[in-house]
Amino acid sequence: MKQLKNKHFVLGLTGGIACYKAAELCRALIKAGASVQVVMTEGAAQFITPVTMQALSDRPVFSSQWDPRESNNMAHINLSRDADAILIAPASAEFVAKLLHGRADDLLSLMCLARPIEKVPLIVAPAMNKEMWSNPATQRNMAQLTQDGVHVLGVGAGEQACGEVGDGRMLEPLEILEALESFFTRKLLLGKKLLITAGPTYEAIDPVRGITNLSSGKMGFAIARACQRAGAQVKLISGPVSLETPHGVERLDVTSAEQMYTATLESVDSADVFIATAAVADWKLSSVVDQKIKKKNEKSPPKLDLVENPDILKTVAQTSRAKSGALYCVGFAAESENLQALAVEKRIAKGVPLLVANIGPATFGLDENALLLVDAEGAKELPWASKEELATQLVEELAKRIS
Ligand code: C5P
Repeated sequence: MKQLKNKHFVLGLTGGIACYKAAELCRALIKAGASVQVVMTEGAAQFITPVTMQALSDRPVFSSQWDPRESNNMAHINLSRDADAILIAPASAEFVAKLLHGRADDLLSLMCLARPIEKVPLIVAPAMNKEMWSNPATQRNMAQLTQDGVHVLGVGAGEQACGEVGDGRMLEPLEILEALESFFTRKLLLGKKLLITAGPTYEAIDPVRGITNLSSGKMGFAIARACQRAGAQVKLISGPVSLETPHGVERLDVTSAEQMYTATLESVDSADVFIATAAVADWKLSSVVDQKIKKKNEKSPPKLDLVENPDILKTVAQTSRAKSGALYCVGFAAESENLQALAVEKRIAKGVPLLVANIGPATFGLDENALLLVDAEGAKELPWASKEELATQLVEELAKRIS
């Protein structure tokens, strides 16, 4: 979450049971390197005490527009001027309606109205009962707030405090952090459509066994996340991995190389960039048996008859859109030695403008990696760092090449 480091937030709490999540949100913001000034409405203080929020934010909490602690008695001006954003979480239906009308009868609404609109963005995380959320008045208010330049976050679905089930829960603190990280990320890939393959593939031998590899999918998922944060529309085709889908990314799960191939070719026509990070199995069984191969039936270990899988990247790189430059293709290479020489060779063999190489065994399953970018101009190293950080750097490199 490097965008949140050294950012200053006014965290506004309004009346709703989701206030309990605001405590964790405040803590998470501070852990991410931000500073937080909490402002609470009277309603919020019914759900969580200012003491809790003061302890977590390490700053006195403000609630009243008549608070004498500010020497000029203008907390509504003073507290927002050095903020990078005002974040209202939770934002109640009532508070949203107030914002919409520019009302200012308490400190928080007054601050929102009095903020310098170009300098201090307003971000709201709504939280309310599902009927309140779906009410045309609320939906109309949300649409109007968006038009007014307020950044309205989505809501979660599920069981609500009232016992009903539906849309309207406040996003979880980590989801809000993710949305903030996106909000502050430079939109280097705005409007671009990216297709990304990630993870290993699994080639069945029989119904219980198969051939796969050690790819965790972490690098590909980090790239998908970084591209989405940079404003791209991202579709991620993933082999079997146990990773959460990055916020805002469309994900399609596949198992075998053949399925990944079909899914990729079905989606690639509308993409501007194709990034093949998947560790696709080179071979599959010529035929998969229906029943488990039993040891006792075999006099010696069974012979596996392998045939080659289609090369997804090479196929895509040979399409007319890729050849004309309308589709920019990026390949990956996981090697165990001789990185640069093999990467140069592989880039030409695959027919792609950019190839990203890494030492596979050094990084499989880890959260860190080092990359070597090879294109027609030469090679560039991205030294050992977290996969998140490398993905951000890769987005910058990509943006330079496709702009
Ligand atoms: O040939 P090799 O497997 O080393 O090539 C790696 C690159 O090619 C990666 O970008 C990988 O996603 C892609 N690839 C593919 N289809 C295959 C094999 C590799 O898209 N069948």
